[in-house]
Amino acid sequence: MNWDSNPLKPISFYKQNSFVIKLLILFLLFGLTIRLFSSYSVDFSSPVFEIQPSSPETDLLTFDKGSLTSNSTNLIRDEAKPKCDLFKGEWIPNPSGPVYNNNSCPFIELPQNCMTNGRPDSDYLYWRWSPLDCKLPKFNPEKFLDLMRNKYWAFIGDSISRNHAQSFLCTLSQVDQAKEIYHDEEYKSKTWVFPLYNFTVAVIWSPYLVKAEIFEDDDGVSTSETILHLDKLDEKWTSRYNNFDYAIIAGGKWFLKTAIYFENNTIQGCHYCHGRNLTELGFDHAYRKALELVLNFVMNSSHKAQVFLRTITPDHFENGEWHNGGTCNRRVPFKEGEVNITDIDRILYEVELQEFDKAVGVALVKGVSLKLFDTTRLSLLRPDGHPGPYRQSHPFAKDKNAKVQFDCLHWCLPGPIDSWNDLVMDILMND
Ligand SMILES: *[C@@H]1O[C@H](CO)[C@@H](O)[C@H](O)[C@H]1NC(C)=O
Ligand SMILES: *[C@@H]1O[C@H](CO)[C@@H](O)[C@H](O)[C@H]1NC(C)=O
Ligand SMILES: *[C@@H]1O[C@H](CO)[C@@H](O)[C@H](O)[C@H]1NC(C)=O
Ligand SMILES: *[C@@H]1O[C@H](CO)[C@@H](O)[C@H](O)[C@H]1NC(C)=O
Ligand SMILES: *[C@@H]1O[C@H](CO)[C@@H](O)[C@H](O)[C@H]1NC(C)=O
Ligand SMILES: *[C@@H]1O[C@H](CO)[C@@H](O)[C@H](O)[C@H]1NC(C)=O
Repeated sequence: MNWDSNPLKPISFYKQNSFVIKLLILFLLFGLTIRLFSSYSVDFSSPVFEIQPSSPETDLLTFDKGSLTSNSTNLIRDEAKPKCDLFKGEWIPNPSGPVYNNNSCPFIELPQNCMTNGRPDSDYLYWRWSPLDCKLPKFNPEKFLDLMRNKYWAFIGDSISRNHAQSFLCTLSQVDQAKEIYHDEEYKSKTWVFPLYNFTVAVIWSPYLVKAEIFEDDDGVSTSETILHLDKLDEKWTSRYNNFDYAIIAGGKWFLKTAIYFENNTIQGCHYCHGRNLTELGFDHAYRKALELVLNFVMNSSHKAQVFLRTITPDHFENGEWHNGGTCNRRVPFKEGEVNITDIDRILYEVELQEFDKAVGVALVKGVSLKLFDTTRLSLLRPDGHPGPYRQSHPFAKDKNAKVQFDCLHWCLPGPIDSWNDLVMDILMND
């Protein structure tokens, strides 16, 4: 079953039907594959369930992914266009370095402003993502802004979405300086406009995407368990959805926190709620429900936006975690085979792939543009791009041996996350 040897061009009614049938077959295959390695539990002391690149399961998974998801539109594209998985590749040296810096971009938040905070090395700035089978052109802000005239773009999710939005704003602002036109009370959701292009960009803080009651301050200290309504979406983004031409939606790490799960305003269970007589449902249960709800909303909405589902961003804490001395001191990217995704990130990632694959078939039928923005693997290869101790201003100025908390999750700006813009642009340009 080789899609490329039989491109559907032009799509006749018959061919469309046979396409749907093939899609269904792939679905079944995919389901089978998933079952092959879905026997994990949420007990992380359990043995690893890494899938090695050479295993038949992975090949099948890759095949499915390539056919059904990121390249599904290739099927109705020009045959002459070479097939390419943008998300498979390596980091190669980039002597020209970043297009902006801490002096030329006002949108970088202090905790990610590694230059200003005194990070002494700069090698991490000189790499770019290079897909295996094709060339990824450099982001062209003029061309991109031209394409975005009078359009509205939303980043919906947690602090990684904000991190990405800032990289996006910094890159585009080298051509036309964005102006902030809105912020919420907590300065977590914001909107900007690029005046010369009337291009609007919004960041919407919605770490769970579903309706959540969070009892946590900015330092992550909580006074009570989070309450998640797994059958209700967060109106912060759904109420604005009809404005959006493009949306990059992402969830992830917040689902690992202690939470009580509600449906129909009734407690269903919880995650990590010791001392409560409730059923442990696992964070993957909640994440799956949330993504399913999000994607159903996108499918059923009469407003058609172009939606990207961004996959989980792996962290690079070593010898501990956030709160117990974890560090990230590597100074070069990993090469393929030098790193494995953690068990937790793999679970989140697989939920994403499964929910995406379920939705993308529906998207085709309903004429919704839904794409997987699969940055997990390429991000996993960049342990060198995090602020580490330089989330604070000059952490070692007073004491060379000061004990500081590291950030091995977010990305320095400029930094590896700038490559995501190259990818976004390439996907849109090839549409
Ligand atoms: C940018 O970073 C450099 C150090 O790399 C520093 O000297 C400079 O003051 C920073 N600029 C701003 C505006 O923070
Ligand atoms: C600017 O763009 C928005 C959509 O994002 C549109 O509603 C509005 O009419 C545009 N304004 C002008 C002056 O074209
Ligand atoms: C939701 O709860 C109400 C009562 O609170 C009940 O009448 C209704 O049947 C429930 N719906 C579902 C789908 O469980
Ligand atoms: C926990 O809940 C179950 C069923 O809801 C109940 O039978 C059991 O007695 C409860 N245990 C405690 C210690 O409250
Ligand atoms: C929304 O779409 C999904 C398929 O994507 C469907 O299963 C579901 O029933 C729909 N829900 C509503 C409320 O229309
Ligand atoms: C990745 O996992 C495999 C299988 O568990 C193991 O053989 C390999 O050494 C691991 N690689 C790294 C870099 O940890």
